[in-house]
Amino acid sequence: MANEAEKKSKTSENSMKITVSRNGPYIVTGRVPLIVSEIHSDEEGYCINWQEIKRYPLKEKYALCRCGHSGNKPFCDGTHTKIHFDGTEKGDYESFSEGAIVVSGPVLTLKDNKHLCVHAEFCLRAGGIWKLIKRSDYPEARDIAIEEAYNCPSGRLVIIDSTTGEKIEPEFEKSIVVVEYPSRNEQGPLWVRGGIPVESADGRKYEIRNRVTLCRCGKSENKPFCDGSHFER
Ligand code: FES
Repeated sequence: MANEAEKKSKTSENSMKITVSRNGPYIVTGRVPLIVSEIHSDEEGYCINWQEIKRYPLKEKYALCRCGHSGNKPFCDGTHTKIHFDGTEKGDYESFSEGAIVVSGPVLTLKDNKHLCVHAEFCLRAGGIWKLIKRSDYPEARDIAIEEAYNCPSGRLVIIDSTTGEKIEPEFEKSIVVVEYPSRNEQGPLWVRGGIPVESADGRKYEIRNRVTLCRCGKSENKPFCDGSHFER
């Protein structure tokens, strides 16, 4: 039976929420942990893992910049009003599965919703996840494919067990990660982990998913979600 502390922590997790404000910041409520993590690459330049570099003190409520112009990132400092930020939400309400293609393999199946790509590029190592899924001659392919999907922050890539039809998903601490990509000198999106609900400025609810990424540069054409527009080659 759950003890009092466990019950309290579950109650607090259930109150976590992100509300998009009209032409303004994300309002985060419910003591959501806020972490800064960097994407790191291997010697060949392939993205390989995350390194947590900072954890902010827990707060009941805070506002995260989504216009990209705050002088106090990742928090909002009110600059969005001065720059007349247009934060119109264009994200559609199509579910992940409706927009995904299916790549079938002998052991694993991949669901891929390209629309959600944020160019984190964990999926390119060892020939790429699409090839790994189909390989039966390479025993490590399964584990690498799962690892690549787990690291995909937007959840564009979702692995399914081909035999059971069950999703294979990482278990996350419910949290928001501010993504930094030092080797590309790039500030990435806000990585929302663990199924925290996101609600639009007009009160509509987006599909709750284990991994989603929210725009924090203000340039996405799929607001409030990141569409990789921060990434310039
Ligand atoms: S949303 Fe307020 S400063 Fe960017």
